[in-house]
Amino acid sequence: MFFEQFRVQKQTPEGNMDTQYIYELLGENASYYIAASFALLWILVWLYRDSLEIENLSDKYVFVTGCDTGFGNLLCKKLDRRGFRVLAGCLTEKGADDLKRVTGPHLKTVLLDVTSQSSIQAAMEWTKKEVGDRGLWGIVNNAGRSLPMGPSEWMRVEDFHSTLKVNMNGVIAMTMTFLPLIKKARGRIVNVASVLGRVAANGGGYCISKFAVESFSDCLRRDISYFGIKVCIIEPGFFKTAVTNLDPIERELHRLWNQLSPEVKASYGEKYLDNYIKIQRLIMNAVCDSDLTKVTSCMEHALTAAHPRTRYSAGWDAKLLWIPLSYMPSFVVDIGLKLVLPRPSKSV
Ligand SMILES: NC(=O)c1ccc[n+]([C@@H]2O[C@H](COP(=O)([O-])OP(=O)(O)OC[C@H]3O[C@@H](n4cnc5c(N)ncnc54)[C@H](OP(=O)(O)O)[C@@H]3O)[C@@H](O)[C@H]2O)c1
Repeated sequence: MFFEQFRVQKQTPEGNMDTQYIYELLGENASYYIAASFALLWILVWLYRDSLEIENLSDKYVFVTGCDTGFGNLLCKKLDRRGFRVLAGCLTEKGADDLKRVTGPHLKTVLLDVTSQSSIQAAMEWTKKEVGDRGLWGIVNNAGRSLPMGPSEWMRVEDFHSTLKVNMNGVIAMTMTFLPLIKKARGRIVNVASVLGRVAANGGGYCISKFAVESFSDCLRRDISYFGIKVCIIEPGFFKTAVTNLDPIERELHRLWNQLSPEVKASYGEKYLDNYIKIQRLIMNAVCDSDLTKVTSCMEHALTAAHPRTRYSAGWDAKLLWIPLSYMPSFVVDIGLKLVLPRPSKSV
């Protein structure tokens, strides 16, 4: 419509000479040049908006879960260095002591098991006293576990539940319990999902839990945006942490295999487990990134940007493989995984 008007203006005898001159100068491709200029302008405005930061970090409290190791641990150190008042939820006393030893006096730790409502409630009461009238600026729901992972048929119902209890119920319980404190500060909820919450590539509770984190966060974001609260989702690719450590993953695969009935074992064949482990090792060693700052920088942006993004994908595998794959038809993922994974010996 806009371009049509542009052409009409050029064709009228009394039309503006300048417009006609510009049009002739640009030639037949004028509409493309104008569209490209708009796109460039949009990108520049987006980049500028994305770079704007909030002020007075030292007045702001952030609660992080699962701070004993991995992303949570590194994030606490980084937020502490930037001047935030960090409240670190650790599962173990050792984790809490180790973290306190390497951080400043403003970082405080509390023991927290996200599978226990009484532990969550106690952490919330403690946080309420710490933050006072200011409320809680941010909560980072980072605590998680990945095991057991493997072929779906090898799981017992309890195997699904053990992961869902931490990664799904834990995130929901933490968020709902801390919400009044966040509402007070018009703060941020940062939920750690995964690329496996976009593409279900593994059996067990992990992918299910991360899909749940995605949908919980989407619903929450839409429902509480009216109160100035922002909900962000972090979608890391594969990184070298305890969650992707091959030793426990393989130990769990052996445990699952050993609990199978002779009939189920026979349908997969004796070589299946070894082949599965070999392929998994190959893939994990190829894709796991050791630079955890790619993830913590996303978390930091979600907490410090004036306009945080809804989703953050961290890592080259997330950006180039998993996220594009998540937009493709299911059969593409089905075929891809079939080509990579071993075939059970009695497959039809
Ligand atoms: N690494 C990856 O490739 C990757 C990719 C996508 C998403 N993620 C997600 O990133 C988050 C952090 O994981 P990570 O990779 O940094 O692994 P990690 O080092 O194992 O961190 C997870 C932390 O959560 C803690 N935790 C486990 N169960 C808990 C519970 N019931 N209550 C409180 N804390 C608990 C763990 O404590 P213990 O060490 O004492 O068990 C650990 O400190 C998880 O949500 C994970 O799913 C990781």
